[in-house]
Amino acid sequence: MPNRVHAEPAKSQQRSAAAKSVAPSPGTFRNEKRTQLCMLRMMEVVGSGTFGVVFLASLPDKPSTIFAVKKILQSRSFKNRELEILKEMAVHQHPSIVKMHGYFYELPDGASGRVAAEKNIVHLNIVMEYMEYDLFRLISELRDQAKSLPLVDIRLYAWQIARGLVFMHALNIVHRDLKPHNILVNPRTKEVRICDMGSAKNLALGKSGPNIAYITSRCYRAPELLFDSIEYGVEVDIWSLGCILGEMFISRPLFRANDTASVIKEIFSYIGTPEPADMRSINPSHAAVAFEPTEGRFFKALGGKIAEQPLDLCFELLRLSPEQRISAAEVLAHSFFSPLCSKSYTQPNGGAVQLHNFLPAEMHDNRVLLEGLIPN
Ligand SMILES: Nc1ncnc2c1ncn2[C@@H]1O[C@H](COP(=O)(O)OP(=O)(O)O)[C@@H](O)[C@H]1O
Ligand SMILES: [Mg+2]
Repeated sequence: MPNRVHAEPAKSQQRSAAAKSVAPSPGTFRNEKRTQLCMLRMMEVVGSGTFGVVFLASLPDKPSTIFAVKKILQSRSFKNRELEILKEMAVHQHPSIVKMHGYFYELPDGASGRVAAEKNIVHLNIVMEYMEYDLFRLISELRDQAKSLPLVDIRLYAWQIARGLVFMHALNIVHRDLKPHNILVNPRTKEVRICDMGSAKNLALGKSGPNIAYITSRCYRAPELLFDSIEYGVEVDIWSLGCILGEMFISRPLFRANDTASVIKEIFSYIGTPEPADMRSINPSHAAVAFEPTEGRFFKALGGKIAEQPLDLCFELLRLSPEQRISAAEVLAHSFFSPLCSKSYTQPNGGAVQLHNFLPAEMHDNRVLLEGLIPN
């Protein structure tokens, strides 16, 4: 089973014209909509990452009904965790999680297909709703026009990502690869979906083995992962959310560097060096490591670019010690989002986001807090 390695940016936005019909072998579908999915016609590639290639696809008789299909090469005996996690979440239909319509397996084509068949290798195709943009491309396109995301949009996007995390974390699922590439966006309706569950894991007792530390793309990797902890929790996603929130304002990654040591240095230069107690909660076996004290210039550097409330939220999300990091539900209650919880709030032009339709699974331990956010 391959370990997922973090993907560097850039690769993910190739959109090439590679039209290809799919004719999966009979009996390979695992979905009641098999006759429909069987007919899917793959069109261009809309994204690629570490393990998957994502195609735009449509039904031949309904070309306007489009889907995204993530094709992943895998062994037939290997239980794909991405699929397992998507299935677990699909039961609830959370508005911030990419919707899976179904999935099917097929043998790779041609000569390589024979080898694959011998080795028992198949393509898993996950059929999802299609979203026009991911946050990485949206930010990049705006940056190329010397623009950045408007504050009203950032607020809506951040709310929805945090809601997705409230839900995932309530199910004990940690995403472990949150980054702008894995946040799908519809810039017209302002809807957001978290995608790419390829690194996600259910941390519930009895289900999980040891956690690997080499996970999450470098710029979004929490300090406990950078310091090789294998006992981390859902707080690693909260750190990544802090990185994404900052990036939405400054249009580039907050902690950009080419290797782990440099990211750590970058983080410390923003936030300051950890106190011994912080270091113990990051990774007890590194508790004795002493760093040359650095006074964080975080506020100084970002104060001019990020308004006071979201900057305060960034600070709460980017606590070095995972224990001190705000929870996803507390994020929603932060004053940055107060406008969304006011009765008089109207969404930006075209905005059609369901903001407060909290699901029972999402409410979980947070019922009082979340109910308090519903405008009355
Ligand atoms: N449902 C979707 N609709 C549109 N584009 C998508 C969809 N899912 C993924 N993509 C695009 O494909 C890219 C790769 O998909 P992802 O699931 O992240 O694969 P990987 O595990 O290889 O990173 C994403 O960064 C995004 O740009
Ligand atoms: Mg991805």
